[in-house]
This record gives sequence, C-alpha cells and structure tokens, in this order.
Amino acid sequence: MKLLHIDSSAMGAQSVSRELTRRTVAQWQDSHPGTVVEYLDLAADAPSHLDMDSLGFRLGLDADALTPAQKRENALTEQLLGQFLAADVVVVGAPMYNFSIPSQLKAWIDRVAQAGRTFTYTEKGPVGLAGGKTVIVASTRGGAYSANPALAFLDHQESYLKTVFGFFGITDVRFVRAEGVAMGEEAKRKAIAEADADIQAHAAEAANEGQAALRA
Ligand SMILES: Cc1cc2nc3c(=O)[nH]c(=O)nc-3n(C[C@H](O)[C@H](O)[C@H](O)COP(=O)(O)O)c2cc1C
Repeated sequence: MKLLHIDSSAMGAQSVSRELTRRTVAQWQDSHPGTVVEYLDLAADAPSHLDMDSLGFRLGLDADALTPAQKRENALTEQLLGQFLAADVVVVGAPMYNFSIPSQLKAWIDRVAQAGRTFTYTEKGPVGLAGGKTVIVASTRGGAYSANPALAFLDHQESYLKTVFGFFGITDVRFVRAEGVAMGEEAKRKAIAEADADIQAHAAEAANEGQAALRA
C-alpha cells in the first residue's frame, strides 16, 4: 500500500496539524505494515500558483510549442499528479487559514485537478477519475465550528477539501479534527485528545484494501 503524507502548515515545530499527520501516518503504518510512505512538505517546497507557465498543461499546445519554463512546470505538475494518483491513502495536514486552506495546499490542488486525469465532464455531468483512495485530513482551527450551526457556514476548509476530493471521485474522506486550539490551553488539550481519538478510529480499513492486497 502507498501512502502520500502532505503537510502544509507554515508553523514548523509549533504546528498542531504536522503533529497530527505524523501520528496518523505512524498509526496507519502500525495497522498496515509494509505501507510505503512518500512525503511532501508544501510549506517548504510548494508548486507555484497557476500562471502562464504552470498552466502549460491546460494550453493544449504541442510539446514543441511550449517554452522551457512551461516544460519545466509541466514536468513538476506531472510528477505531483503521478504521485497523487499512485497513492492508496493520502494524509493531508490542512490548517484553517482565513476560513480556508493555506495557499500552498491550494497550489498543489490546482496542479492535480486535471480534466482527463482526476476528473472528466460527461453529458451527465462531472465524473471523478481518482476514486478508490482513502483521504485523511488533519484539520486544525483556532476557533470551533463543527458543533455550532451558527458558525459552521464559515468553514471553507473541511467543506472545500471534501468537495474537491469528492470531485476527483474520492468518497472516503475522513477527518482528524483539532478545533478551538486558540481558545486557551484547556481547549487545545481537549482538541488534541479528540483528534487522537479520530486517529484511532480512522486507522481501520482503507477504501481499496482489497485491491491493494491483490497488488501486493
Ligand atoms: C495565517 C493564519 C490564519 C488563520 N486563520 C484562521 C481562521 O480563519 N479561523 C480559525 O479558526 N483559525 C485560524 N487560524 C488559526 C489556525 O487555524 C490554528 O492556529 C491551527 O492550529 C493552525 O494549524 P497548525 O498548528 O498546524 O499551523 C489562522 C492561523 C494562521 C497562522
């Protein structure tokens, strides 16, 4: 089984989501021995935002017509996309930044969201092409949103990730959630304890357990 471990917090050793992804991956390896892990630190090394170079893969041009910068960016996009498509399990550290996700994580999503590769449009509407994976999102927030209907509409972090991975055909999106981490030491301790319980719960079978076993 292949696991892609992604971090996107800019807070280094102080980051809660980095600690939660680390524990999630360790727990997964315990319950799925032999899992091969690849690591992507988007805070240290993020793809650029989409521009005329990095959008080369959408321009529909012959390889000869691409500039050297477009070819370089296309190769990076292809590498990120291949890594994502090959993964059976994706563990994503996703802090809430300004009600959404870090722009580095969005930049990665912009590279892997590709018509014909991760989704396609049909006469009946969009169809995801990257189904069968399990995605585990380590979601951290300073405030608390999930249990309060008056605040839940402010969440464009978990809801966005669920939407975009769902658009890729991934129906098994699990959340390891620590929220309210900026609401005092006691609230933070409780939030991390609850996230630890999520980690235990989510280390169960992967969505494609059967297929991964057959490939092994
Ligand atoms: C740039 C920035 C923006 C943030 N925006 C929000 C926000 O909109 N809502 C919220 O509840 N917390 C917000 N926070 C708090 C973080 O979500 C919280 O500190 C979380 O633990 C960050 O994850 P990390 O510890 O892995 O870095 C923000 C933090 C930073 C650094």
